[in-house]
Amino acid sequence: MKKELRINKIINGDCLKELKKFPDDSINLIVTSPPYADRRKKDYDGVAPEKYVEWFLPISQEFYRVLKPNGSLILNMKENIVNGERHTYVLDLILEIKKQGWIWTEEYIWHKKNAFPGKWPNRFRDSWERCLHFTKNKKFKMYQDNVKEPIGDWAKKRLQKKYANDDIRTMSKTQSGFGRRVANWSGKRKVYPSNVIHFATVSSNKNHSAVFPERLPDWFIRLFTKKGDIVLDSFVGSGTTALATLKLDRKFIGIERNKKYYLSAKRRINMLKKELKI
Ligand SMILES: C[S@@+](CC[C@H](N)C(=O)[O-])C[C@H]1O[C@@H](n2cnc3c(N)ncnc32)[C@H](O)[C@@H]1O
Repeated sequence: MKKELRINKIINGDCLKELKKFPDDSINLIVTSPPYADRRKKDYDGVAPEKYVEWFLPISQEFYRVLKPNGSLILNMKENIVNGERHTYVLDLILEIKKQGWIWTEEYIWHKKNAFPGKWPNRFRDSWERCLHFTKNKKFKMYQDNVKEPIGDWAKKRLQKKYANDDIRTMSKTQSGFGRRVANWSGKRKVYPSNVIHFATVSSNKNHSAVFPERLPDWFIRLFTKKGDIVLDSFVGSGTTALATLKLDRKFIGIERNKKYYLSAKRRINMLKKELKI
């Protein structure tokens, strides 16, 4: 079978089956939000928490094959509560995925700015999700300047007065190699962000119950790709990643198994293509 990419298309099918048709080392970035374990089973066939790792590993193996050596994989997921405690399937998955050769380069935290108010007797509301960053190599493409953000008001106050150590590069005591020189921030309007990203969840109905905000894939696409690169979302749902990709002048491939969501994603993409005249 000749392996090829179907560029700027949403594919209706099972991602494991469809990924096998992709050539090796062909994708620049995979950014995706797989179904949560057992959540919303009625809507899109959740996977039982105890079977999650076993279910996911063949897929991450294919991700490894199709991703370029300098590419990145972003997995947006969060373990849920099972029998009154956090399940460990995400942690188990990280350990198992590393055995496939993946490097667990970073973990970004998506802070959901508008999480519903509320509390439980034993915990508070959940307002963050993991965005796990895996790479095939320690050196990979990262365009940090693309996600610089306004420095914020705290800096004005902090930088009014200089302290003795502000001009010296202070290295982290954990020996992580991270260092900072406070004076570098002087006069800056835009700075690099941290690994906590703050976006509100989506409130408008996109005919899907687990949509992430477009700003989420947008941020990772800007960070890890350049114009013309190929971005894959193998669990594309309502098509959010595909829309963000197209708006940033990159190429997308989306895979969605559920016919209803596939049709909805395709409709949204076609509308955008018309708007962008492509
Ligand atoms: C968490 S949702 C993704 C939502 C998406 N990020 C959005 O903004 O709309 C996961 C999606 O994966 C789809 N899915 C589940 N198993 C799949 C599989 N094996 N292959 C392709 N899609 C699958 C589900 O139907 C669901 O739409």
